[in-house]
Amino acid sequence: MIIFGASGRAGKVLVDTARAAGWETLTPAHEKCDLLQPRAAAGYVLAHPEAKAVVNCAAMASPDVCESDALGAHLVNALSPGEMALACRHTGARFLHLSTDYVLDSRRPGLKAETARCTPCNTYGMSKLEGELQIIEALPESLILRVSWICGNPHRPSFPETVVARALRKEPLAAIVDKFSLPTHARDIATVILACIDKPEESGICHLCAQGEPMSWHDIASVALSCARELGALGEAPSITPQHLANVSFFRAQRPIHTAMSSLRLGQILNHSMPTARDTIYRAVKDFLQTADRREN
Ligand SMILES: NC(=O)c1ccc[n+]([C@@H]2O[C@H](COP(=O)([O-])OP(=O)(O)OC[C@H]3O[C@@H](n4cnc5c(N)ncnc54)[C@H](OP(=O)(O)O)[C@@H]3O)[C@@H](O)[C@H]2O)c1
Repeated sequence: MIIFGASGRAGKVLVDTARAAGWETLTPAHEKCDLLQPRAAAGYVLAHPEAKAVVNCAAMASPDVCESDALGAHLVNALSPGEMALACRHTGARFLHLSTDYVLDSRRPGLKAETARCTPCNTYGMSKLEGELQIIEALPESLILRVSWICGNPHRPSFPETVVARALRKEPLAAIVDKFSLPTHARDIATVILACIDKPEESGICHLCAQGEPMSWHDIASVALSCARELGALGEAPSITPQHLANVSFFRAQRPIHTAMSSLRLGQILNHSMPTARDTIYRAVKDFLQTADRREN
């Protein structure tokens, strides 16, 4: 299996999970295969026709970086995945790609299905949507998994883990109350990818995230602290100052408001529903605390 973006938050967990499941993995490094040159991606796939599957976890994944480098975002997030898909068409490899809830129209609340309208509000979302379109045009049999708020890679802490780390250091906490999505555990992404490689009949777009009601960053922070308490790492949960998107100045790119996704289709494909958001956050916090413990001892 070829895994692009193997050093990333999702990619690293996929590599570990795939190897544990007995897969041989080819992991082209950024320096050796720079996706700013889309033909490099195709060249790598074509040079390894033996690969049964190609998974693209690589991306210019920061909305703020994409906002200041629209050309880079287009090359990495749109053209390169299209080239990978085209190359898979030649080699016959199954192609799976990670996309994002940021492609969705985020103006109305509620859980969004795969058929929901797409109107990205920033350069990152536009480049990822263009990537989806390029892939479907090049190889309609591809499977595109839209994920959101990836957590659960203890070596690359994301929001829930960072909140807990700050709380343990007794630092002040603040979180946004008016932006809503659902988290996705990196291990669940890896497990779903491995399961879907063997389901070539499944193609197109599929939403992959925890199940439940849409959550704000503030909700996620509260649940993360409650999990840390349950795990015995934290005494009294500290308060979290509510923040509003309109009043924070640290984002360069506009953020979408309502992008929580429904994973109903994936549940039908796998014959089981996705874990709850609390379970997703609990596992992420637990792994993070255990990894931090190991580092200290
Ligand atoms: N993180 C989230 O919460 C989130 C939410 C929704 C969707 N997603 C999507 O999920 C996927 C995985 O995200 P992630 O958080 O794991 O991303 P990440 O941690 O930022 O990792 C991105 C990976 O892409 C590689 N990469 C970036 N630019 C490259 C280039 N020019 N050439 C070659 N490789 C390059 C990076 O390599 P280096 O580290 O060596 O640069 C890294 O391995 C992406 O498609 C992202 O859009 C993520």
